[in-house]
Amino acid sequence: MLQPNKLANKNFLSSLDISTEELMHVLELASSFKNKDLNLKFDGKVLGLIFDKSSTRTRVSFQVAMSRLGGSTIDLNPTTSQIGRGEPIKDTARVLSRYCDVIAIRTFDHSDLEEYAKWSTKPVINALTDFEHPCQALADFLTIHEEFLDFKDVVLTFIGDGNNVANSLILCGALLGIEVRIACPKGYEPHDLIINNAKKICKNKNLLKITNDPITAVQGANVLYTDVWSSMGEENQKEEKDKDFNGFTIDSNLVEKADKDAIILHCLPAYRSKEITDEVFESKHSRIFDQAENRLHAQQALLSCLLS
Ligand code: CP
Ligand code: NVA
Repeated sequence: MLQPNKLANKNFLSSLDISTEELMHVLELASSFKNKDLNLKFDGKVLGLIFDKSSTRTRVSFQVAMSRLGGSTIDLNPTTSQIGRGEPIKDTARVLSRYCDVIAIRTFDHSDLEEYAKWSTKPVINALTDFEHPCQALADFLTIHEEFLDFKDVVLTFIGDGNNVANSLILCGALLGIEVRIACPKGYEPHDLIINNAKKICKNKNLLKITNDPITAVQGANVLYTDVWSSMGEENQKEEKDKDFNGFTIDSNLVEKADKDAIILHCLPAYRSKEITDEVFESKHSRIFDQAENRLHAQQALLSCLLS
């Protein structure tokens, strides 16, 4: 049964911007869109896309989602708009929110995203910052729900850098009350703000586990998740990070230690033989392309809530 929509006209900057009930509502809507049980129309509505970093999945899935809702998108490339020339965010945001009905932004500093949201009169969506990737987490938990039909007793182990993708998984996992284990090298742990917020949301403080040991982190886990070791903007740290993350590759030895029916997720793009072996990436455990498809359904659901 679909719940009343409380997300209308709200920003979605963080996984913290949604309650457990609202998250379940979005996931339910996403399943309905995926199963073609729902045909909501937002004719003439326009989504502005500001991408300061590259994107395949997020950009295209937003474009297709808007088209399926009867709306359209405008691609605001910083190099061809005045954004690249340094027009202040507060001016850009006030102008764009007079043309667009919703704006999705991919940028570096989370504070820039918040600045857009402060000045925009239309909903702003986080399409990835260095700090969070909440749209990704929607698709991830949709994929997990499809597999296990329930979140009860699901153990999610993330192996990699404790940054944007991990942060949104931690917060969403806390909303859903599931056990989230993060295994990362020393110095790459998630930000204290994320850990403290997750502990505030979730009554059971023991559900979030941070470790530097991938082997203990995967024991009996139902979901193994990884992400690139060097994120966009960190290209100059690649050599150092490759060394630091040595031993954090999801390979068949690690998969064997997880639950026998464990699934493998990766937000993509992937670097085979770095964070994941080709064997595991292509194995029967992998749900990576279902997860990528679910970006579309989850964002169609999110947009329909924000635009209602
Ligand atoms: N997972 C993800 O956000 O992919 P893109 O960088 O291709 O959008
Ligand atoms: N952590 C990665 C995620 C890519 C979707 C990055 O920020 O580049």
